[in-house]
Amino acid sequence: MQTTFLSKLIKKFSPGAYLGVDIGTTSIKVAELLKTPKGLRLSNYGLLESYGHLERFNDAIQTSSLKLLGKETAEMLKLLIKKSKIKTKRAIASIPLFAAFTILLEVPSMSSEEITQSMQFQARQYIPLPINEMALEWIKVGEYTDEKGFSKQQIFLISIPNDTIGRYKDIFNSAGLNLEAIELENISLTRALIGGDLTPTAILDIGCRASSVSIVDGGFVKAVHQSDYGGGNLTQAIAGGLRVNPKRAEELKRQRGLLGTRGEYELSTLMTPFLDVIINEVRRAANSYFEKYARKVERVIISGGGVALPGIVEYAERQLGLPVIKSNPLAGSRIAYSQELTPLIEGLGSSFSVALGLAMKELI
Ligand SMILES: Nc1ncnc2c1ncn2[C@@H]1O[C@H](COP(=O)(O)OP(=O)(O)OP(=O)(O)O)[C@@H](O)[C@H]1O
Ligand SMILES: [Mg+2]
Repeated sequence: MQTTFLSKLIKKFSPGAYLGVDIGTTSIKVAELLKTPKGLRLSNYGLLESYGHLERFNDAIQTSSLKLLGKETAEMLKLLIKKSKIKTKRAIASIPLFAAFTILLEVPSMSSEEITQSMQFQARQYIPLPINEMALEWIKVGEYTDEKGFSKQQIFLISIPNDTIGRYKDIFNSAGLNLEAIELENISLTRALIGGDLTPTAILDIGCRASSVSIVDGGFVKAVHQSDYGGGNLTQAIAGGLRVNPKRAEELKRQRGLLGTRGEYELSTLMTPFLDVIINEVRRAANSYFEKYARKVERVIISGGGVALPGIVEYAERQLGLPVIKSNPLAGSRIAYSQELTPLIEGLGSSFSVALGLAMKELI
């Protein structure tokens, strides 16, 4: 993996603990991992949900979360670090898909230096902003021999505006943390949820104002898709349909979800048109991947706050005709955690997928 701007940020000393920080539209999640002789251990974690968006609902849903990044976010982050007794200052942050440009390129086999040079040139063709205002990063995600016998490499190119990176650095500085790297959240999710599994998988991350689909094959992200719909739209649909305020709508959504019967049935009827748009994005992403690479997505993992909607896994399974699983980044034995956390992790583990994937970045 080539890391132009990351290598400038990451200092070369041996890692012991890292903090993964996932700043979303409505919440901040942090997870601190320790590297011990026995493996990784979850030492602390924290979640701060801001319900402010329910009061200024349309604002929060319609504006980009990056606009919210600023003094308020730094204050929230500081508070969260203090409350969750986080010790390390070494942080890695995620960036949402809508704040980056990505593309999968196919290039002839060449050295890392040559790829780096070629990416500068390729980026000019694909990225609609001046290249000198962007940080570029590329990851080799596959290779194959084409029908003419030439060997080809698949390169996933990610580009993030310098301005965005600057804003993140400011927030972390104000919160008293050292921001050592920034990563696209789809990459963090893949690290946390896929590990070395080679199965072609779609990861659906349902956030508040947006959702994303990552197609992961052979353990690498091959394609990313984005939908402008998220859990916030489901709340909005309930609020509008039942004429209740957004706070009440949010409560109803969390309590009953899609599982209502008779009187409650209306709740799912209100939500499904929006949920279907989100789920359709998975279908589109899988179809487009199949058309290009003749590889079939075999399963779907749902992550993000939206996976907690009661009944969503079964509903998505019916709609997609594929096995659907709720994400659990703490399943298996890769990360140890104290026994007391078990009940909590069953409920919340899934929402920490990005934060855990970030903290794992330099530790595995
Ligand atoms: N128990 C639950 N049932 C249904 N929906 C839930 C539940 N818990 C959280 N959500 C929804 O999850 C969404 C928030 O998810 P998440 O925390 O992943 O978002 P975010 O990362 O802050 O947002 P984004 O990724 O869009 O910036 C909200 O719409 C919230 O209503
Ligand atoms: Mg999110």
